[in-house]
Amino acid sequence: MTLRALHDAAREALDPAHYDYVAGGAGEERVLAGNERAFDRYALLPRVLRGAEDRDTAADLPGARRAAPVVVAPTAFHRLMHPDGERATARAAAAEGAVLITGTAATTAVADVVAAARETAPDPAVWFQLYLHPRPAVTEALVRRAEKAGCTALVVTVDSPVFGRHTRDLRNGFTDLPPGYAAENMRDLPGAPPGALTDIPMSASPTWRDFGELARMTSLPVLVKGVLHPADARLAVEHGAAGVVVSNHGGRQSDAVPAAVDCLPAVVRAVAGRVPVLLDGGVRRGSDVAVALALGAAAVGVGRPVVWGLAAEGEAGVRSVLATLRDEYDHTLALCGGRRNADLTEDMVVT
Ligand code: FNR
Repeated sequence: MTLRALHDAAREALDPAHYDYVAGGAGEERVLAGNERAFDRYALLPRVLRGAEDRDTAADLPGARRAAPVVVAPTAFHRLMHPDGERATARAAAAEGAVLITGTAATTAVADVVAAARETAPDPAVWFQLYLHPRPAVTEALVRRAEKAGCTALVVTVDSPVFGRHTRDLRNGFTDLPPGYAAENMRDLPGAPPGALTDIPMSASPTWRDFGELARMTSLPVLVKGVLHPADARLAVEHGAAGVVVSNHGGRQSDAVPAAVDCLPAVVRAVAGRVPVLLDGGVRRGSDVAVALALGAAAVGVGRPVVWGLAAEGEAGVRSVLATLRDEYDHTLALCGGRRNADLTEDMVVT
């Protein structure tokens, strides 16, 4: 099975407007298409006769030692995609040893997400994604909820001072969650009612100072998600980030930015090994994982493929996505003459 087959099954299973919400991007979807197409420009130059047995693909990430190098990126509203929602995603990620980044826009509260992960594995790694809220007290309340739930890291998304213009959602008039669904982490917090898609409140003027304050308000490692410019990666480290996620939000914010993987090498150079760099956007095969790791990523995130697995087959579908990527990556690593992630190096990537 390839991830593409699950996409087709998900498309059949989903309400067309919900399918479009996940599949779509901003504007003319140039960045959405570009993220995937960019990987077609990279090839892997293998090394030979180095011994490729006893492979170990584990990665050490903030708040997640020996995790799979494939992380579940935060995607919203899983209960819309499958009745088991985020609980199924959490159980699948825990079973596959992958970090799950659950988000503020989840339709299941973070405490219930972590509890579901713990039903499957004794020590799962669940990270919590949030935006900088216009009211610092709300940001702090979200941080405390994540800490209390047992999250092992926080991820602050910084590429969304305004909400992306999602053409398909505008065309479909898909602006509100159906009755019975809500962004549960916002419950009982001051701010927007938790039912509108675009009303997860985020600060329109977030600054590095706000980020630094957040990093100081918790003892959890805090990663920055949505960095493309190497100067911002440097600033992130200076302001206490425990990791940098190179991401253009899967083409859902600006429709005029480069493909995420094309931004990775410069960010890796700017960070210079001080913290791990992750990448998301367009990862669809194990060889894409290998390219990103060879270019210096510690791990990759996958967004849409996980939702396709969830929509098609619930927990088993998400497990299938993560297991397929792991097996394909492990296979690619062997074919590159590698036994560890670090055996993949920049000189092995050609364009
Ligand atoms: C997202 N993404 C996202 N990111 C984030 O920081 N907070 C969020 O609430 C969401 N919500 C969301 C919903 C849906 C339906 C999608 C598809 C994506 C972006 C996500 O974390 C990630 O950056 C991209 O999905 C990665 O690209 P791929 O793997 O989907 O190509």
